[in-house]
Amino acid sequence: MDKKEIVLSGIRSTGNLHLGNYYGALSKFVRMQDDYDCMFFIADLHALTTQPDPAQLHANVKSILAEYLAAGIDPEKATIFVQSDVPEISEMYLLLNMHVGIGELMRTAAFKDKARKALGIKTDDSADEESIERQIIGTETNKRVNAGLLTYPTLMAVDILIQKANKVPVGKDQEQHLELTRRFARRFNNYYGVELFPEPTNFDFGGHAVKVPGLDGSGKMGKSEGNCIYLIDEEKVLRKKVMRAVTDEGPKVPNSPVSQPVENLFSLMELTSAPEVVKQYRDAYADCSIRYGDLKKQLAEDILKVTTPIRQRVGDILANDEYLGRVVRMGAEKARERASKTLEEVRHIMGIRRFY
Ligand code: TRP
Repeated sequence: MDKKEIVLSGIRSTGNLHLGNYYGALSKFVRMQDDYDCMFFIADLHALTTQPDPAQLHANVKSILAEYLAAGIDPEKATIFVQSDVPEISEMYLLLNMHVGIGELMRTAAFKDKARKALGIKTDDSADEESIERQIIGTETNKRVNAGLLTYPTLMAVDILIQKANKVPVGKDQEQHLELTRRFARRFNNYYGVELFPEPTNFDFGGHAVKVPGLDGSGKMGKSEGNCIYLIDEEKVLRKKVMRAVTDEGPKVPNSPVSQPVENLFSLMELTSAPEVVKQYRDAYADCSIRYGDLKKQLAEDILKVTTPIRQRVGDILANDEYLGRVVRMGAEKARERASKTLEEVRHIMGIRRFY
């Protein structure tokens, strides 16, 4: 019997999931679960790096869990677990850090970005790298960049390596972290002359990366951008958001090029509406008969067809603590089984032996 490849991915518990998470991650996860040995988890330890309100953290973990399940991830097929339920991850994080350079961590784009935020330096400020580094070290400010932020990639590498995952479905923004994971795996294997860790690759299930734009006319949908449609948005809220989406004055001459904000709405339609509906509106744009109000109404209806059943299931699942408990307990057992095996190997390889 040949073993299925291990697919692993996680989402940080920092808020509700939106349509971008759904098309970019969740809906793909659902399609993978029959063909791969899938492990999907909630990265609550990673969430700590941005200091969440302790009163909120557990509720956030719970809501993402419910959203995973409501979107169709099946706990009988995939392993669903909470990162902090697997203490082996924390121990291996300490061990792996001994082979990670602070320089390579400091050069990571996501770190620089978050360090700037923590120090209150705007991304578009032309503050040069050296002055940012000086501020991190603390000669100019008493603001802190916490060490957890710096070692975020170590923790992520451990999530992956401790399960010996082969494929990691993540977006472009995580590519650098995955590259570091491969580097750490190789380094560990070479340093100790072992072949313990497979080098994981990104996994773009279905061939092409989907781009899910936001409603503000700019780039992609993102929590921090404030341009999101959440899976659990109430109907009224969702309709209002879509009706307020940025557009333009409309085409004046036939076959005009489509501006970014309007193209974004078409992209959302392509994800949620039937092909003939998209065509109808594209044609209406081309012959200048389009009315953005109509397009938005249609778009809102079609998005609601996707989100309403999910929102309803989220409601049911959130009310069922017993079920949620069962799911994560089962997931934690499976994840810990693999994790403790790898951790034992790592300890042994590094020379840590017990006296008793
Ligand atoms: N860093 C990922 C993100 O922000 C979340 C994450 C943590 C992750 N650990 C992981 C993703 C392991 C894949 C595998 O999106």
